[in-house]
Amino acid sequence: MNLKGRDFLTLLDFTPEEIGGLIDLAADLKAKKKAGIPHKMLDGKNIALIFEKTSTRTRCSFEVAARDLGMGTTYLDPAGSQVGKKESIADTARVLSGIYDGIEYRGYGQEIVEELARYSSVPVYNGLTNEFHPTQVLADLLTIKERFGKLREVNFVFMGDARYNMANSLMIGCSKMGLDFTACAPEGYFPSEELTCKCRDIAAKSGATIKFETDPAVAAKDAEVIYTDVWLSMGEPADAWEERIRVLSPYQVTSSLFEKAARGAVFMHCLPAFHDIKTTVGKEICDKFNRDSMEVTDEVFESEYSIVFEEAENRMHTIKAVMAATL
Ligand code: CP
Ligand code: NVA
Repeated sequence: MNLKGRDFLTLLDFTPEEIGGLIDLAADLKAKKKAGIPHKMLDGKNIALIFEKTSTRTRCSFEVAARDLGMGTTYLDPAGSQVGKKESIADTARVLSGIYDGIEYRGYGQEIVEELARYSSVPVYNGLTNEFHPTQVLADLLTIKERFGKLREVNFVFMGDARYNMANSLMIGCSKMGLDFTACAPEGYFPSEELTCKCRDIAAKSGATIKFETDPAVAAKDAEVIYTDVWLSMGEPADAWEERIRVLSPYQVTSSLFEKAARGAVFMHCLPAFHDIKTTVGKEICDKFNRDSMEVTDEVFESEYSIVFEEAENRMHTIKAVMAATL
C-alpha cells in the first residue's frame, strides 16, 4: 500500500485494499502504543488543524497522534484565524502548504475541503464536513473488526437521520468493506440517490448489501451493530429540533429495540451523544420537549452492548495511521 502524498477527503477515493491496509496499520500502531514502543516515524514534520466547527475527539486525536509520530501541530480555531473570512480557501491552502506537511480541515461543505486540497501541495485530511466524516468511519471499522474478528457480512444498521455525514460515510465504508448495511430512517431521510447508486455499484463488487428500511423493529432484527448519530448536526438551525424529534423519535435506540438484535450485538455512536440531560444543550432541548434523552437512551448508552468509548479511542489510532501512510 503506497498512499504517500494522498489526500483523505472521502472513503470513495480509496480501494477496499487501501482501507483494509489503513485499518491494519492502525491496529499495528495501537499495539505499539500499548506496548510503549516509540514510533516517531514523522519526526520534524508539522500539520495545521483547521476547525470551523467545534471538536473534542477529532482535535485530540490529531494532536496526540501527531505528537506520537514526532510531529508538531498548530490548531486554528473557528474564530481565531483568517480562513474564509479575510483569506480565501485557495490562498490559505497555498500559505499553509509552504509551512506545513499536512492540513486537517473540519467545516461545512465538502466542496471547501476539496478546494483546499486542490490548491494545497501537501496532503489534506477531512476532519468532518456536512457530507462526510471519513476518519470516523475508519475508527468504526477498526472497532468492528476488533469485536467481530471480521468486517465482511457483519450486519450493520444505522438508525436515525440517514441524510448526513455519518450515514453517508458509513454506507460508503460498509459497501467498500463488504458489510451488510441497512439505513433505517423515515421516508425522505435516506442518503441521496446519487450516493446510493455509487455505493450499490461498489457493493456489487465487494459482496456488501445495501438496504433502506423504515421500520426500526424490522431493521434491528438480527443486527450485529446498531449505530446512531445526533438528530441535529453541527451547523444546522436549532429550530429544526422540533421536526427532528417528532419524526425521529420512533428511531431512538432503546433496550427493547436491542432485544431484537443478534446475540453479541453492539451499540455504536460517533459521539457526542444526547443520552441524558447532563449537558447544557441536552438539558435545554430535553426540558423543552419533555424527554430524558434523544437518539439513544441512557440505558443502552451505559449498557454492556455499548462500545462507544473503544470506538472513540480508535479515532486516535486510525488518524495516526492516515497521517503515517500519507506523509
Ligand atoms: N466524533 C467526532 O468527530 O467527535 P468530535 O466532534 O468531538 O471531534
Ligand atoms: N452528524 C454529526 C457528527 C458529529 C461527529 C455532526 O455533524 O454534528
